Amino acid sequence: MQLLDGKFLSAQIKAEIKAEVTQIREAGGKIPHLVAILVGTAGRSETYVASKMKSCEEVGMHSTLIRFEPDVTETELLDAVRRVNDNPDMDGLIVQLPLPDHIDPNRVMETIDPAKDVDGFHPVNIGRMAKGLPAYVSATPQGILEMLQRYDIKTAGKHCVVVGRSQIVGLPMSILMQRNAYPGNCTVTLTHSRTQDLPAICRTADILIAALGKPEFITADMVKEGAVVIDVGLERVVDTSKKSGFALKGDVKFDEVAPKTSFITPVPGGVGLMTICSLMQNTLKAARGEVYGK
Ligand code: GUN
Repeated sequence: MQLLDGKFLSAQIKAEIKAEVTQIREAGGKIPHLVAILVGTAGRSETYVASKMKSCEEVGMHSTLIRFEPDVTETELLDAVRRVNDNPDMDGLIVQLPLPDHIDPNRVMETIDPAKDVDGFHPVNIGRMAKGLPAYVSATPQGILEMLQRYDIKTAGKHCVVVGRSQIVGLPMSILMQRNAYPGNCTVTLTHSRTQDLPAICRTADILIAALGKPEFITADMVKEGAVVIDVGLERVVDTSKKSGFALKGDVKFDEVAPKTSFITPVPGGVGLMTICSLMQNTLKAARGEVYGK
């Protein structure tokens, strides 16, 4: 068993991005600029956005955080999105999800200029990704591809089982893994809450991607000997032995599953760190106009 070490890879990728940003600065170019919109402070959104902003600083990019109270109207939020769209100094925009119930996330995503949609959530980017055209690919799936590539994991002809059909991870992951590309060329099964006999399907996976958001759901009896296991889950569970009172758990019961695998991601220190790197990479692409031109 070998760990897919997100900590190591993310440090490597951040150093690469930093070197590119330094080059841009030294050549007198425009420093890439990421904008995040955060509504309220509920859940872990605040922490996630803070670490995105901190990462920008680490690699030398500019960042702006625009905050709204939870009672912001949809109109006010859409106006803020349009202002970022129209500001040529701002290269990338993310609106942190989830949003309060009175705001339609689809309307917000569709208002973001696809050329600034570094989260890859706009239907134009999802459609282009599905067709294999240049697009912003959402950060977590992109981070997983990067991990498979940097560890030189063979994917062609393999059976990839994705557990969870979220718009952000499961669905794009399933599309990316079947593409005629590397990583890709898998036979993909996308499973979800209505799937019958999920354990039997998981046992046929050469590459198992767990993105369902249920702590320690994937147990050893669901994993084939020698499989590659990617754990996208990150949940807080009560643990009185910890000073904080909680432990972070993935969707995979790591201790019993890890010995059966050829490669596995730890939680924390796996996929989560890759996600932020992908966002930085997309912001760099946006600043360069690599997907849509300038
Ligand atoms: N909420 C959970 N994951 C994400 C993400 O990747 N981007 C945004 N904008 N919100 C999220």
